[in-house]
This record gives sequence, C-alpha cells and structure tokens, in this order.
Amino acid sequence: MKPPYEIEDMSQIYSPGLVIFRDLLVHNLHEMIRIAGGPDRLCPHCKTHKTREITKMQIELGIKSHKCATIAEAEMLCDVGVEDVFIAYQLVGPNVRRLIQLMDKFPQMKFATIVDNPDALEALSAAVNAGGHELDVLLDLDTGMGRTGIQIGPDAIELYEMTLSLPGIRPGGLHWYDGHNRQADYDDRKHAVDECWFRFTGFRDQVLLNGLPVPRVVTAGTGSFPILADKGEPNVQLSPGTTTLYDAQMAELFPEMDFKPALGILTRVISNNREGQLTLDVGHKSCAADPPAGKRLWFPDLPDAVELQQTEEHIVVQSELASSYQLGDCLIAIPTHACPTSAVHQFAHVVSAGRVVDRWQIASRDRMLTV
Ligand SMILES: Cc1ncc(COP(=O)(O)O)c(C=O)c1O
Repeated sequence: MKPPYEIEDMSQIYSPGLVIFRDLLVHNLHEMIRIAGGPDRLCPHCKTHKTREITKMQIELGIKSHKCATIAEAEMLCDVGVEDVFIAYQLVGPNVRRLIQLMDKFPQMKFATIVDNPDALEALSAAVNAGGHELDVLLDLDTGMGRTGIQIGPDAIELYEMTLSLPGIRPGGLHWYDGHNRQADYDDRKHAVDECWFRFTGFRDQVLLNGLPVPRVVTAGTGSFPILADKGEPNVQLSPGTTTLYDAQMAELFPEMDFKPALGILTRVISNNREGQLTLDVGHKSCAADPPAGKRLWFPDLPDAVELQQTEEHIVVQSELASSYQLGDCLIAIPTHACPTSAVHQFAHVVSAGRVVDRWQIASRDRMLTV
C-alpha cells in the first residue's frame, strides 16, 4: 500500500523542503504508546524530530519522560515543559557547565544523565554540588554495542556505588541502550535482544543484592523496543526515537512493525536531458549522507529509482518512469535515515490530509539555543 504522501498545493514549498506528514506521525505516536503499554513506560528520544511541536504532542498524550543527547535538545525539552529530561550522553568539559546553567534556568525540572567513568562522575558531582543542585545519575552499561558504557562487572558496581556517596548526585538507575540489535530477521533479533537482556537482568539483580537502589531502567532503540516492551518489567522505560517519524531504513529492516515513514523531502526535477534519468534538487546537503551512496532515499512514486550519483545539491536517478516527469515536477523522497535528515533543515512543512497546515522549526538542530 502506498502511504499517503500526496500534497495538494506544492507551490508553497521551496525545494528541497522537509515535510512532516502529521497524520502518519500521530499514528506512530499512538503505536509507540500501544506497544509500550502506556505513556509512562516511554522515554522517547527527541533526536529524530528535534521539535517543540512534536514534544508537545507527546506531552498531550501523557508522555512525561524524554530522552536527548545534546544540551540544545535538553533545552528544547525544558522550553516546552516536559516533566523529566534525561540526557543520555556523558557530559565532559564545558558541557558540564552548560548543564548547571540549564539547571539554574529551569529549577523545577527533573534532570538525569549518565556516566560510565569515575572521573566524569566526580567532575559532575563537583559542578552540580557547587551549583547547589541535585542530579539523578544513571549508570551507562555497554550492552555489547561497543560505543559507550562500562562493562558489566565489579567496576560497574563500584562506579554506581559512588553515586550514593558523592555530593549533589543521586543514584538514578541503569541505562541499557542496545542500538546494535537491528537484525532484519525477527527471530535473530529477538534472540539477540533476549540474550542481552538476560545479561542485564543478572547484573541488575547483583546491584540490588549489593543494597543499591535501581529506581529506573531506561532501555531500547527501535529494533528492541517491542521485544523489551513485551517483558512488562516494572520501572523500565523504553526509549525509541526513530519510531516518531520513522524512515526507509527502519521500514525495510522491521517489516513486522506498523510504524509509517512520516518524514519526507519535497524535491523537484531540475534537469532531465538524459533519457531514463532525472536530476533532482535533493543533494547530500538536504538528506542524511551516512547511508552509503546509492541508498540514501526512497521515492514512493518512483519505486524502481536507482540513485546514480549524489552531490551537494543534486541527485541523479534512473527510472523507467523518468519520461513522465517534466522540469519543475515534484517528488517526495523518504530519507533512509530520518535523524540526520531533520538536522540539516531549518524547519519542516507540516502536511495533514494532503494540505500544508503548519511549519515547525527544527529547534534543536542548532548546537546551542541560549545555554
Ligand atoms: C542512547 C540512545 N537511546 C535511544 C536511541 C533511539 O534509538 P532508535 O533511533 O533506534 O529508535 C538512540 C539512537 O541513536 C540512542 O543513541
């Protein structure tokens, strides 16, 4: 089934222009809550959309906890009045000071962050305490992803113990992001997620046996989200991000999930001199360039499109349908990777029932808002 990417009047949209299909987004938000089993079981990552408007929609649906990676994202979340901001990124250097400035600016807000290193925790404690604040700190564990996180073991317990004694710091729980569990085969993925979770629960039990509190566990990306949601464990919050706007990569990897790509780029034919080919104005300055060349976009109306070359402001595609397009004609391109795509646009046109109804700023694409 072709998802509803029609737009009645495209003349209002400069290209390349980011478009959010609001009806699909609303569907995705409800689907997230359905899978999680309630809004309080979610701590969605805002990295995919970075907008105040989508955060407000999530708040209206009852989602109180929100995850982010940057101080700018955290400030955006504070601006719209979420209850609980979780910065899932170890803060070092001047970002520690920026967190304190944010805590000064939003004294009512409940903040939490992660650590995987004693030096980082000590520096955080010194700054938070000097600022007269208190901060929940979750222990970031390496799930096997090999990006951040301390290995499960005695050192991890020792590091978490420090959160009990250091001034300004409270033990906030455990962070278990298994973003590498994206196997396309559902059984393989479930097996990997379950194996990972088994290791995690063994460690969590050890932490509890050591008399340390685990008030909260934050876990899951899109791939593991439904599997970990099914476990129905108490005090566990699920933190998918891509599920809000979804993208072509996730749709291909996880056909069993009912999320719909809700983010597109409106692009126009800017040259069509070669038979069977179209040159469009969606270069790699307007879509994520982390997928390999040739795999960055999906065109719902050109299902056979082959990406021949992409430069900063151009893409050349080959398609049997090329001759049916004239210069200036529009196409919707769905990015393979939504999160870095929204980051390269100032704002998104919002489409509902085929009409442009609003324009949302991609507020935290900027690295700094006020702090
Ligand atoms: C720490 C963390 N949590 C949650 C997410 C969301 O994961 P996904 O994009 O698979 O939904 C990410 C994504 O990069 C992440 O880095």
